[in-house]
Amino acid sequence: MSDVAPIGPPAAKEGATQADADSGLLIPDTSLGENIDGDDDVQDTKAAKGRAGRKSSSFANLTPRQEVYLGAICRQIAQNRFLPTPTQDEVFVGDGDYLAIGAEFLGHFVRLGGLKPTESVIDIGSGIGRMAVPLTQYLVPGKTRYLGIDPVADGVKWCQKTITPVYRDFRFQTVDLANELYNPEGKVAGDSWKLPAKDEEFDFATMVSVATHLPPAEVERYCSEIFRVLRPGGRLFMTAFIVRNAEELAAPKCDPRLSGLVREKDKPCWHLRGENPMAAVGFDEGYLESVLAKAGFALLRKGFGAWHGDKSPHYQDILIAQKPRRSSK
Ligand SMILES: C[S@@+](CC[C@H](N)C(=O)[O-])C[C@H]1O[C@@H](n2cnc3c(N)ncnc32)[C@H](O)[C@@H]1O
Repeated sequence: MSDVAPIGPPAAKEGATQADADSGLLIPDTSLGENIDGDDDVQDTKAAKGRAGRKSSSFANLTPRQEVYLGAICRQIAQNRFLPTPTQDEVFVGDGDYLAIGAEFLGHFVRLGGLKPTESVIDIGSGIGRMAVPLTQYLVPGKTRYLGIDPVADGVKWCQKTITPVYRDFRFQTVDLANELYNPEGKVAGDSWKLPAKDEEFDFATMVSVATHLPPAEVERYCSEIFRVLRPGGRLFMTAFIVRNAEELAAPKCDPRLSGLVREKDKPCWHLRGENPMAAVGFDEGYLESVLAKAGFALLRKGFGAWHGDKSPHYQDILIAQKPRRSSK
């Protein structure tokens, strides 16, 4: 299939400042997020798209002009019916508008994680390309690499068939990782495997709605492996459910779908009562922060999501951690 519209990142316009060119383009914040997998049932996709362009606190410190450029890219992605989308039956990563959710996250990657169009991305748990399709419109062809990894072969195959033939820098790999929810028969243990990447090969790592389905030992392994494959200055963008205390789960404002989280005895994680233990995994506040620190990362940002019941531009919690730059000494 070759129906991926080759929009690509817009060239710098006349009159753009050097700062515009240096920090690249940004995407608006479409603030979806009613589905526990970081997405939305999006009855009201129009409203979600209408939120495009709203500003939020910015790691990348975009200029107003960059915000405008990126707002335009985001709207194009969310509305572009020439971009490939899997059928509803094929999508196994949650409900909602596939393109609008991807565009939302592109906005977070850029605005909160400082993703630049010339950076290379490793996407852990790439599913069926929901993050990858918008990234094809942002990353500069020929200058970047994208690697998506997932245990669900059908999702990876869809990406290989649909995205890679058009965007050759985008590669996808199935790894038969065991996961009680997504791949119960998997043969590879996630707590001891090595990412198929060289040291310091990537600038940006994403785990969107993935730590929310993993046990602690696998999250720990990913953090140390991601640290290895990131260049100095590279960032890890991870979403999670951070449980501050049991009381907040019982509060009426908490998303009722997560108020059934119960803490596992003697472990820093929480699972939904009566469900597959990997259906939704929460972590004690402080646990992920300590895992990131142990791996060597500096925590740049911790943003609580709307699932707690407070206003937030994203539904799940977001952690952004950076591999320290080399000291000049
Ligand atoms: C809720 S989906 C999110 C997919 C994608 N990040 C997105 O937002 O569209 C969770 C994904 O994690 C993948 N997954 C499960 N266990 C995994 C593991 N051990 N390592 C990497 N990915 C895993 C699943 O196959 C699934 O694609």
